[in-house]
Amino acid sequence: MKLNDPTLLHVDSYINGGWVAGKTRFAVTNPANGEVIAEVADLGSAEVTAAIDAAVPAQKAWAKRTAKDRAMVMRKWYDLVMANAEDLAVILTTEMGKPLAEAKGEIAYGASFIDWFAEEARRVCGDVLETPQADKRLLTFKQPIGVFGAITPWNFPIAMITRKVAPGIAAGCACVLKPAEQTPLSALALAELAERAGLPAGIMNIVTGMNAPAIGETMCADDRIRKMTFTGSTEVGRILMRQSADSVKKMSLELGGNAPLLVFDDADLDKAVTGAMMSKFRNAGQTCVCANRIFVQDGIYDAFAKRLAEATDALQVGNGMTDGVEQGPIINDQGLAKIKRHVEDAVGKGAILLTGGKPHALGGTFFEPTVLTEMTSDMQLFREETFGPVAALFKFNDEDDAIAMANDSEFGLAAYLFTENAARLFRVSEALEFGIVAVNTGIFSSEVGPFGGLKNSGLGREGSKYGIDEFLEIKFVCVGM
Ligand code: SIN
Repeated sequence: MKLNDPTLLHVDSYINGGWVAGKTRFAVTNPANGEVIAEVADLGSAEVTAAIDAAVPAQKAWAKRTAKDRAMVMRKWYDLVMANAEDLAVILTTEMGKPLAEAKGEIAYGASFIDWFAEEARRVCGDVLETPQADKRLLTFKQPIGVFGAITPWNFPIAMITRKVAPGIAAGCACVLKPAEQTPLSALALAELAERAGLPAGIMNIVTGMNAPAIGETMCADDRIRKMTFTGSTEVGRILMRQSADSVKKMSLELGGNAPLLVFDDADLDKAVTGAMMSKFRNAGQTCVCANRIFVQDGIYDAFAKRLAEATDALQVGNGMTDGVEQGPIINDQGLAKIKRHVEDAVGKGAILLTGGKPHALGGTFFEPTVLTEMTSDMQLFREETFGPVAALFKFNDEDDAIAMANDSEFGLAAYLFTENAARLFRVSEALEFGIVAVNTGIFSSEVGPFGGLKNSGLGREGSKYGIDEFLEIKFVCVGM
């Protein structure tokens, strides 16, 4: 990997401001070609506990500093991330596979949370409440929750860290973070830049390791960790929630999705095709908010399917470091196997392949961008998130049916709809049981919008003016006069 600043590349964990090698290592591979790119420290429960030991006193000192002071450190961190965006994008693409242009986009997106929460740190305000008793004064203080545990996924190796860590440290908390074992290098580079920005030792601890269950359990079992924040599967989210029950921790969970995308007859076809392409094929379909079930009204169905298949066919697949590549590899064999299973199941039950449908000629974990039509609700893809480049088209006739099908899921993270009818826009947005509704666009993510789901998609909101509340406690102070 060629970097302008090779000192960004760390392979040891970062605990209490020092780099910790541990006794064993695990291999990080490039999903585009299977090459081992680094041997990273394989730590576990003992180092999580050491990180918590360091975080507790560090957090107390950090919380005593003014919000303005914390914001200044964060602002420097933001500047350093942006100044090193090129290198960070190379690290990200090499360990995760997404095209370099998308990786650069993620660095800017990830950095935006640092910038935003540096600003928000200064707007945390308690209240003076109107008292019902003349001899009392009532106030609220908003105080940092303390030390939190964070477990982040591989699909956004930078942005999912900053979306959790930035509001936490802005609020005056400290964290113990376990990045995905597939993508620890981006996390460690972020820590290097945080240190250069002046973030004190112990505030951001990164424990790398293969034994995610043990690391997670140690965090959840420790009373000193007052909050867990996690992005990943609903199954793991439930485990963390159960393990956190004894110490009654606050939880933020950003879990599975099964996003519906509704295209009505009155949609602008260009907007709908462009939006569906963005939503479906971003990160090779490996986001929690990628459209999984595309519901198209019968009047526009054939035209939409034809245009979508043409655009899908034109996508350039390859190593994310190659110029012009728009879709990289799938993260691993497990991911590839699920995609194949969904396509085979759908075709076996009568779906029609318009394009793609099999592993790509490039081999490895590359998969052809795929469009399926004539999908039905008895197919596996209807219930399970594919997490891959498969656009699955279902036909509907009437608005109520479309809403019912879209809501027929245990998940409720993001939904999309395409219509030029203003009344329908509001009606359908209100009826969809999802935490996020994107209208006439395939991309909605930013630091300003609250990100989070309903039902089994999770708890809490990340980003936005609400995101910092997840790291604050409200203390009620009643003063007798
Ligand atoms: C995710 O897939 O969890 C994050 C997607 C985003 O932030 O847009």
